[in-house]
Amino acid sequence: MYKITLLPGDGIGPDIMAATKKILAATNVPIEWEEYIAGEFAIAEYGTPLPEHVLESIRRNKIALKGPLTTPVGTGFRSINVALRMKFDLFANIRPARTYKGIVSRFDNIDLVMIRENTEDLYSGVEHMVGEDAAESIKIITRKGSERICRFAFEYALKNNRRKVTAIHKANILKCTDGLFLEVFYQVAKDYPQIESEDRIVDNMCMQLVQKPELYDVLVAPNLYGDIVSDLCAGLVGGLGVVPGANIGHEMAIFEPVHGSAPKYAGLDRANPTALILSAVMMLRYLGEYSEAYRVENALAAVIKEGKVVTPDLGGNARGMEMAEEIIRKMG
Ligand code: NAI
Repeated sequence: MYKITLLPGDGIGPDIMAATKKILAATNVPIEWEEYIAGEFAIAEYGTPLPEHVLESIRRNKIALKGPLTTPVGTGFRSINVALRMKFDLFANIRPARTYKGIVSRFDNIDLVMIRENTEDLYSGVEHMVGEDAAESIKIITRKGSERICRFAFEYALKNNRRKVTAIHKANILKCTDGLFLEVFYQVAKDYPQIESEDRIVDNMCMQLVQKPELYDVLVAPNLYGDIVSDLCAGLVGGLGVVPGANIGHEMAIFEPVHGSAPKYAGLDRANPTALILSAVMMLRYLGEYSEAYRVENALAAVIKEGKVVTPDLGGNARGMEMAEEIIRKMG
């Protein structure tokens, strides 16, 4: 029996989590959930978006499945998503973006994996006003942080039969910070001669990805570029509704979709549960439950390919829970 912390999240989180939980209950993987509220709902009940008992549960179980959590823009509390990644040193964020047959997008054969550094860069939280008319944010890049994320990307490439790792940076302008990241990338690359290595300046990378994404394979980037470029990759494969994510540390992991809480769809059960279901599939693989992961992903792919019982973002009219029930039928 696996004990896993479950955070349904804000906005569309509870809807897509209910759909995902139902699918996981239909697998042969025995899971006992420790379910807690965090985010906006927790503020109302506990006065904090991230209560200590939630942190304790994740610390104890070493694994969590989470929905999106809202972060107020401009003012208010700092991101709980970022806080969780920092707190548990979940330094690697894996975001695979691949084409599923049946999803209409401008490309039909995308298979990219973004490996985003999760603990440094402009997400350091060192930010302040300088007087009333200026503000500063400190970008932090360390040799240790760059080394472990670049090594993670090459190890990922090796284990998953990938051919190439591309580093994303802006070292032409940010000579110290991104310069260090790039220097470390090529040092690490020397240990993996069987994997091709190259780099792209982030602006050029964006242009190349929308013009010829087939040239790319595994991408590795500091935190902010990783955040932005992974949404770009989501756009290439049909939108945020279909791209999963995993935050991995040395002994803990939190699985969550790339997308946010999409508040305007909250409570309507119209949001696509695919990204969270695929995050759960990544979680099953992390647990070593390969055949059940395969079973869920296959059934999901079949439902998307058929295109009959899918959510509005995929051109259908189904609710998230109806899509989940169809996936369970296909799981047999
Ligand atoms: P968002 O990802 O929530 O939504 C942007 C748009 O993408 C939506 O309006 C919708 O059209 C589409 N979309 C997203 N998820 C979808 C789904 N499952 N099915 C169908 N369409 C979907 O991004 P936004 O509006 O920038 O952020 C909303 C809130 O979410 C903010 O408070 C933000 O901080 C938070 N957020 C949380 C994340 C997390 O928990 N890891 C990640 C990104 C944003």
